[in-house]
Amino acid sequence: MQQAPICNPTTTTARWWSKDSIAIVTGANKGIGYALVKRFAQLGLTVVLTSRDPSKGVKAVDSLKVLGLDGNICFCQLDISDQASVRSFVSWFRSKFDAFDILKLKNTKMKAILGDEKRLSEDRIDMVVGVFLQDVKDGRWERQGWPDIWTDYSVSKLALNAYSRVLARRYEGLVSVNCFCPGFTQTAMTDGQGKHSADDAAEMAASLALLSPSRLTTGKFYTGSTTRGMHSKL
Ligand SMILES: NC(=O)c1ccc[n+]([C@@H]2O[C@H](COP(=O)([O-])OP(=O)(O)OC[C@H]3O[C@@H](n4cnc5c(N)ncnc54)[C@H](OP(=O)(O)O)[C@@H]3O)[C@@H](O)[C@H]2O)c1
Repeated sequence: MQQAPICNPTTTTARWWSKDSIAIVTGANKGIGYALVKRFAQLGLTVVLTSRDPSKGVKAVDSLKVLGLDGNICFCQLDISDQASVRSFVSWFRSKFDAFDILKLKNTKMKAILGDEKRLSEDRIDMVVGVFLQDVKDGRWERQGWPDIWTDYSVSKLALNAYSRVLARRYEGLVSVNCFCPGFTQTAMTDGQGKHSADDAAEMAASLALLSPSRLTTGKFYTGSTTRGMHSKL
């Protein structure tokens, strides 16, 4: 059932964050990630802009310096699909900061298997993704009930959403883990098509990430619309 929309904490509630609040944004050299770095920095947080390609990352940081935001931004290379890069990022981060406050990371058959909350686990997600990959290798995925449009994208998103529920359960009381769908947004991924800009999507993401700790939920899936605000679907 849809709940009441989330208000924008950047304009309506007490500011709990400061320059000592650290946000890490992955895939931040362009699109929504880049816009979110800009928004967090404008709001006064310290933001770690990460990019898998260092030259693109440095270029992105330089373009934010022009806006006078360099005091709030630092850069580190991070390819989230490369274990060595992830390890090297973690050791860089630990050498520089004590902790982070915000981390922004990215059918029917999947829903039937992963929708069972009690049985949801990391192993189960790995197993389902493994079956999908095998079906693709064997050339039979179309007959096996996987989503027929945006197939690999849908499977990866469902796995990520399911994983966020596993993490939310595991770290309940310590960390809030939520998913956010920005809606159809004008970025490179959509060839510039969409209902709103990356800046609009970043504003919605910031309004969720910066909710006061007492109002922040965990294990939820939010969707955002510039006209209807942010809603939780779970
Ligand atoms: N745009 C939409 O309508 C829409 C709707 C729903 C959900 N989303 C989600 O929102 C997120 C951002 O999308 P976007 O529209 O901003 O896309 P985008 O403009 O294409 O940007 C994607 C970013 O992710 C980076 N990236 C890709 N693989 C990576 C990896 N392995 N490690 C680190 N970074 C990686 C890209 O780096 P490179 O420049 O090096 O490729 C780029 O910076 C995605 O998860 C997307 O699925 C978007």
